[in-house]
Amino acid sequence: MEQNQQEIKAERKKRLFSGIQPTGTLTLGNYIGALRNFKILEDEYDCLFSVVDMHALTVRQNPTELRQNCLKLLSLYLAVGLDPEKSLIYFQSHVSGHAELGWILDCFTYMGELQRMTQFKDKSAKHADNINAGLFTYPSLMAADILLYQTDVVPVGEDQKQHLELARNLAQRFNNAYGDTFVVPEGYIPKVGARIRSLQDPERKMSKSDPEDTYIAILDEPNVIRKKLRRAQTDSGNSIVYDTENKPGISNLMSILSAITGESMDAIGAQYDGKGYGVFKDAVADAVIAELEPIQKRYKEIVSDKAYLNQVMTTNAERARALSQKTLLKVRRKVGLAALKL
Ligand code: TYM
Repeated sequence: MEQNQQEIKAERKKRLFSGIQPTGTLTLGNYIGALRNFKILEDEYDCLFSVVDMHALTVRQNPTELRQNCLKLLSLYLAVGLDPEKSLIYFQSHVSGHAELGWILDCFTYMGELQRMTQFKDKSAKHADNINAGLFTYPSLMAADILLYQTDVVPVGEDQKQHLELARNLAQRFNNAYGDTFVVPEGYIPKVGARIRSLQDPERKMSKSDPEDTYIAILDEPNVIRKKLRRAQTDSGNSIVYDTENKPGISNLMSILSAITGESMDAIGAQYDGKGYGVFKDAVADAVIAELEPIQKRYKEIVSDKAYLNQVMTTNAERARALSQKTLLKVRRKVGLAALKL
């Protein structure tokens, strides 16, 4: 019997959690840094993929647009092939445990830790008229998202590394104070493509809040993708060499191609060196278009199927809620919140 239980334990898949904000157009950066890996990792792990709608409230949103964007993101999760029967694909706000654990973790997070967060500094500069407390404590809520489900691994792009480190620190801090409570999560940051850069200014990351010609949207039409890539900023040479310091534009395009095709930088260099930037850019466009076209096609079918989206949204919220209760009960008991005896 004991051996049986051990076997079952050993067989239990590790848990994976990740989330994306439903704030408008998703970019090729979101796709290569995160979404694409969700699909690759889905079979190996026991997965939760969340539309983190409460995070989006840290910036003023148009309510109708936010609701639509949540459904669009859910559709995109499904269009990349994530399976809502197997994985939990749900809206953060439908599981109140996120907010509840978020508050408790707020009480374990130091002001100094939050003040150091680069995303907070960037967003405060961008939204100087609305530096709200939610923007400040955003990383504790993100830690709650992860720790609520005893997550082992978190696939994210490089820009989320600092937030993830806080989640790890909070888990350890809490465990030290109250005994083992949370799994300390590990990041899964892809070797290639963890930071896709702006097409016009490769010093910056590709971001949906920048002008349109700087990013490729996952739902951009093929001709738009080709046009944007042809206009991507590159140096005046003609060598296809991965050198982020001296050739950031070309290196960025090589990262995109390598992430999609799985070819090494050397192999890409050998194939395109000397052929001119035009030929190379078109090859990158071909690969991006071939990768995104089937997703776009499925997306169009799914996004208009409101009944299906509703069914996925409801059943998955229910399952996530049940799962979240295990951790919540444990945490409540540990910090000394009295159990409600009915
Ligand atoms: P968000 O919504 O800004 O981005 C979603 C994911 O896309 C990655 N990403 C990129 N990767 C490579 N190159 C880029 N240019 C690029 N731009 C974005 C991000 O790293 C991210 O993985 N705070 C998170 C959402 C979140 C979350 C979580 C993630 C909330 N709770 C819990 C993981 C676990 C965010 O704002 O991501």
